[in-house]
Amino acid sequence: MKIEFTEKLKQNYNYTLLGIYENNKLPSNTLKYDKELNGIITKSITNSNFKGNIGEHLIIHSEKIILIGLGNQKKLTNLSFEKIGGKIGKLLTKEQVKTALLYLDNFDDEKLYEIILGAILKTYTFDKYKTQKEYNDTTLYIHTENPIKAKENFNNTKAIIDGITTTRNLANEPSNILTTTQFTIEAKKLSKLGIKIEILDEKALKKMGANLILSVGQGSKYPPYIITMQYTGNKKSKDYIALIGKGLCFDSGGISIKPSAHMDEMKSDMTGGATILGIMEMIAKQKSNKNIIGVIGLAENMPDGNSYKPGDIIKSLSGKTVEVLNTDAEGRLVLADCITYTQNKYHPTTIIDFATLTGAIIIALGEQKAGLFTNSSSLAKQLLESGERTGDELWQLPLSKTYNDMLKSSVADMINTSKPERQAGSITAAEFLHNFVDEKIKWAHIDIAGTAWTTKGTDTSPAGLTGFGVKLINDYLKEV
Ligand code: BES
Ligand code: MN
Ligand code: ZN
Repeated sequence: MKIEFTEKLKQNYNYTLLGIYENNKLPSNTLKYDKELNGIITKSITNSNFKGNIGEHLIIHSEKIILIGLGNQKKLTNLSFEKIGGKIGKLLTKEQVKTALLYLDNFDDEKLYEIILGAILKTYTFDKYKTQKEYNDTTLYIHTENPIKAKENFNNTKAIIDGITTTRNLANEPSNILTTTQFTIEAKKLSKLGIKIEILDEKALKKMGANLILSVGQGSKYPPYIITMQYTGNKKSKDYIALIGKGLCFDSGGISIKPSAHMDEMKSDMTGGATILGIMEMIAKQKSNKNIIGVIGLAENMPDGNSYKPGDIIKSLSGKTVEVLNTDAEGRLVLADCITYTQNKYHPTTIIDFATLTGAIIIALGEQKAGLFTNSSSLAKQLLESGERTGDELWQLPLSKTYNDMLKSSVADMINTSKPERQAGSITAAEFLHNFVDEKIKWAHIDIAGTAWTTKGTDTSPAGLTGFGVKLINDYLKEV
């Protein structure tokens, strides 16, 4: 879908989209059209079941008009505009409309941007490997008083769209294309936006003693890496917020191999990392005034003669030792070394990590909400509120010593699973990470194993990878 801003109302568009509130209250510009058309709009409404509810539409073919339900005027939030945009985008591409004008005279440009955000996000396609593409050639003209100004100020929202698109594109790529090494090449592309990229390769990781991430990757022909991406928007401050992502380009489970059914989905086990890359692109394009470090732990978890094995005892970068009881609990190992590295090198005030960490979070929360675990009540509040506002919803689960006790090992500092097995799987995974967090730092872990993906599609995402978390952090950064 292409977007243009225009002040021109009558340009032979295939359709003109007009808004209507709940209970068929007509905004003044829609009312004007109705009068010009001798009441055809009101007549069409009377002859239909259309109520003006949010997401509803009514096509008046004879006049090439589409009525868009806006819902309750008083309850319209940014998120409702985004949802309306999603409906518009889906409708226009489904009907294979070439050009349409959106004429909502009663909203300022900021609201229109939310509509555009929803429309573009909902009509995202990943069809680069298809020789037959689905229709996505609509140009949506947005009516505004001052198109030049509207286009200039659109930059901020455009950056969010670009960030989410990058996250989805990366998460969609299969592991034969997006190998760990290819991922580092993708990250390096951000340097042209003024982000400082540093790649720690296997040799550097060995020298440092990042043995957890090294162990996870040692069965793969693609080497592990830690990528750091540094964006300095405020030179006067030394404070950084760190964002860390799990980047398993493929997770077969390793020697504790997964069942074959759905194993293909583990090509997206790098979605946490893709989220961080998308966020870095967004903030750089927004010219954010914040200081942010993005860190991605990249590895591929494979069974091999060289793989790490159940029973192995590994000394982490922090010095703490881990007894591996299941090689499929690899994400926490990769993240633990990333957390240690980030703390030692950058001393951030805050760490937020994103990871497709546990199947258990899908059992608990489904695809609707991501699991939030944090050592800070203020960070919890901020993130939960950002989740509500953006639709990237979170649900907080507990951390506590009694859960941490489930990680006890008889031979090392901790096990990488939990005992009794299968109980509180997401919480014990979070407690594992907690063991590596410096308590002076505000830390939040967001388990996106459920929300990274949508089976049926949501208001603002087609079925598939969602790009969850980018909007969340965009909103969060405005509040800190
Ligand atoms: N990447 C998986 C978690 C996952 C499962 C993400 C399904 C998305 C969909 C993770 O590495 C994993 O395998 N976790 C295990 C941990 C267990 C062995 C303690 C799990 O959740 O079963
Ligand atoms: Mn795994
Ligand atoms: Zn995994």
